[in-house]
Amino acid sequence: MSDSIFSKIESILEEIKSSTPSNAQELETFRIKYLGSKNILKGLFAHMKDIEPARKKDFGVLMNQLKTSAQEVFDAKSADIKKASRSQNATATDYTRPAYPEQVGSRHPVSIVMNHIVEVFQRIGFVVSEDREIEDDWHNFTAMNTPEDHPARDMQDTFYLTNSMEDLLRTHTSSVQSRVMTSTKPPIRIIAPGRVYRNETVSARSHCQFHQIEGLYIDQNVSFADMKQTLLYFAQEMYGAETKIRLRPSYFPFTEPSAEMDVWMGTDTEKTKKLTKGTGWLEVLGCGMVDPNVLKNCGIDPEIYSGFAFGIGIERSAMQKYDIGDIRMLFENDIRFLNQFQSAL
Ligand code: PHE
Repeated sequence: MSDSIFSKIESILEEIKSSTPSNAQELETFRIKYLGSKNILKGLFAHMKDIEPARKKDFGVLMNQLKTSAQEVFDAKSADIKKASRSQNATATDYTRPAYPEQVGSRHPVSIVMNHIVEVFQRIGFVVSEDREIEDDWHNFTAMNTPEDHPARDMQDTFYLTNSMEDLLRTHTSSVQSRVMTSTKPPIRIIAPGRVYRNETVSARSHCQFHQIEGLYIDQNVSFADMKQTLLYFAQEMYGAETKIRLRPSYFPFTEPSAEMDVWMGTDTEKTKKLTKGTGWLEVLGCGMVDPNVLKNCGIDPEIYSGFAFGIGIERSAMQKYDIGDIRMLFENDIRFLNQFQSAL
């Protein structure tokens, strides 16, 4: 009796070792037969009682071998089949299928306007000079000839970072003027785009952060006429070849004389009427001849050198160009708003 059981086990072992399930279905049949909950090995165990005591141990060893072999064959074949099906899928790629549309970002309207202005000035030899947004009092105010009691220094306007009021968020890009003048010898011809901060109530018309572009030109014999011609060039590049400008006297602590430049928009349309408050003139920038005190503060001899500076606000131009009614939209990062702007620059 024992002998026949032993030879049966041997033959099943042979059968397992020579099985070659070659697809998922054959593999499943194999699994059910040898490893499933009702596998044939279990049936063989029932014969344990018929084995003579001296051979029970051998029986056990052989049965274990059966089980391990079945598991080994199963593992090896299932790995083969998985691998084969993976490479089969790879060759099933549909090369004619259109690609997923690539999500392309768009330029921020502020960047578009800023890049355009920078490019206009680069064409006539201005070099970009960027500097820090966290400034010290000296570069933002003192060097720029802004007296201790000037209202611009007031807590109302300036974000101070320390109680000593030494460090602050720059209130204008004019701080780059003092940075450049103290570290470079004339001739200086720079354009400084960047973000500035003022402690103002946020509304549709004003924000506590905005952008400016500063211009500074210092050399021997630089005159007010040079400034006027440079700014006329800028206005005509930005607003069209026929654009007219006017300079109105103004005041800035760091320039003398100072002026504000307006661009002629006309009053032909409702839009320009509203934009210019009925005057036809749109205020575009502040400018002036660099005050000799500023040159002195920064170690440049005002007897030898003179220069002009200007500061252009970016948001207002961007809002006008793209008909944006609320400045806050420029800082909310709403993708539906931002997606509308396209530019190569
Ligand atoms: N810094 C001035 C402002 O923020 C603008 C300006 C720059 C005026 C340079 C004159 C010269 O309003």
